[in-house]
Amino acid sequence: MAIRNIRMFGDPVLEKVCKEVREVTPRTMELIDDMFETMYDANGVGLAAPQVGVLKRICVIDVTYEDPILLINPRVLETSGEQTGSEGCLSLPGKCGDVTRPNYVKVEYYDENMEKQVIEGTELLARALLHEIDHLDGHVYTEKVIGEIRNVGEESENTEEE
Ligand code: NI
Repeated sequence: MAIRNIRMFGDPVLEKVCKEVREVTPRTMELIDDMFETMYDANGVGLAAPQVGVLKRICVIDVTYEDPILLINPRVLETSGEQTGSEGCLSLPGKCGDVTRPNYVKVEYYDENMEKQVIEGTELLARALLHEIDHLDGHVYTEKVIGEIRNVGEESENTEEE
């Protein structure tokens, strides 16, 4: 396992549409292991393959730091409700912004054995699923931010800048 270099906003790799995974090879497993290690090392709750420069439809999520989720070729089946909350991205460290997303999502994906699975999430998990799946289509959360992009720790009402 190894920690990979996280690509930052502005890197064209983050604007590309990723390719479907057809088979999980030992190289794919190495990528997945590295993605988990890279995400935990950066204290993130999610990471998508393009963020480590690989244009494959793979993302990893762990919103509790004890429930690792691997999604290959994820596809949103259903959404409902609405939530607005602060969101950040490992590709734009130290920044956050308010994003409105569905409060519930149902996602179909493949596991490491290429067996089809379904996951449902609400609140933070729904937000993480939608954020990571957006990455696979070349989208980043800042496209959806309401108001200002803030430094982490700043109140949303605080528009003062030094
Ligand atoms: Ni992100």
